[in-house]
Amino acid sequence: MTESDLRLRRIPLNNGTGHIPALGFGTLIPDPAVTISATRDALDAGFRHFDCAERYRNEREVGEALQAGLAATGLAREDIFVTTKLWNSNHRPERVEPAFEASLNRLRLDYLDLYLIHTPFAFQPGDEQDPRDQDGNVIYDDGVNLLDTWGALETLVDHGKCRAIGLSDITLNELRPIYESARIKPAVVQVESHPYLPETELLEFCKEKGIVLLAFAPLGHGIKPGLLEDPVISAIAARVGKTPAQVLLAWAVQRGTAVLTTPKCAARAKENFDISALPEDALNEINRIQTRQRLNPVVTTGVPGFIPRATSA
Ligand SMILES: NC(=O)c1ccc[n+]([C@@H]2O[C@H](COP(=O)([O-])OP(=O)(O)OC[C@H]3O[C@@H](n4cnc5c(N)ncnc54)[C@H](OP(=O)(O)O)[C@@H]3O)[C@@H](O)[C@H]2O)c1
Repeated sequence: MTESDLRLRRIPLNNGTGHIPALGFGTLIPDPAVTISATRDALDAGFRHFDCAERYRNEREVGEALQAGLAATGLAREDIFVTTKLWNSNHRPERVEPAFEASLNRLRLDYLDLYLIHTPFAFQPGDEQDPRDQDGNVIYDDGVNLLDTWGALETLVDHGKCRAIGLSDITLNELRPIYESARIKPAVVQVESHPYLPETELLEFCKEKGIVLLAFAPLGHGIKPGLLEDPVISAIAARVGKTPAQVLLAWAVQRGTAVLTTPKCAARAKENFDISALPEDALNEINRIQTRQRLNPVVTTGVPGFIPRATSA
């Protein structure tokens, strides 16, 4: 992490395949038209890291926006970093490569920079993304374990189809055994993280192993009242002449994580990209915030907290 300009900071991956831009744009946007415009606005504002998922059901729109955006700006595929994620209903090893290829096809890409297992929970295999029994309970799949799925991701790397692999919505206790057994070590772990959920122990483990912790919901998912109105954050923002969103994103990058944010219009894309380093005392004040809050319960069930319920695949 040598780049002093936080906007351009890139973190090396532990597999020697390159770097991940620390500041990333997340595509968890339910509306297809907004997905296209927001993705394009993010590219135009300077974002070079795009986080997708088959479960967001908008990979086609992201692919369309990226293709048009690259053509219009003269950027090459290698200039951007694209991630997508394997959904819970595709954990069986024989389902991994077809799911990966389908994502690649929808995104109009011929390789991925990073492929993540979206959650450690395997759901009933099939095309139904949210399988439920008659009582509305999720139908899990006990015929596969996370290491089996991980092995199928390792094969994708062997075949040169994706450069790095990782996990999401995983706890430190679940990560350790995968890390220890993996032939190809996880390069990135994507979890909810912000000043109300700093995930300090997980971050320490990741730093020790060279794994990038990629934080989602850095602005508290925009939920009000919340981080964007926190008095410590607001006071720092006023003091340094930045917005609360810029303070929260700068803190995330300066503490050594990569971070994903979801601005939905051009003005917010520019705002969220325009971060600069906070002074040490401001970082310390944020680190001393005592409020603790997890916003997304996905880590307990595998059911996504911020995504509308899927009724069919
Ligand atoms: N692995 C997982 O399970 C998982 C879960 C959640 C998210 N993610 C990923 O992480 C990405 C980021 O998560 P997130 O969407 O929760 O991030 P976030 O940036 O914390 O929250 C996004 C919300 O904050 C508001 N916002 C954005 N910029 C703002 C600004 N400058 N000032 C005030 N409000 C602002 C927006 O609200 P408006 O709607 O009003 O514009 C937006 O909907 C997602 O897109 C997705 O890629 C992954």
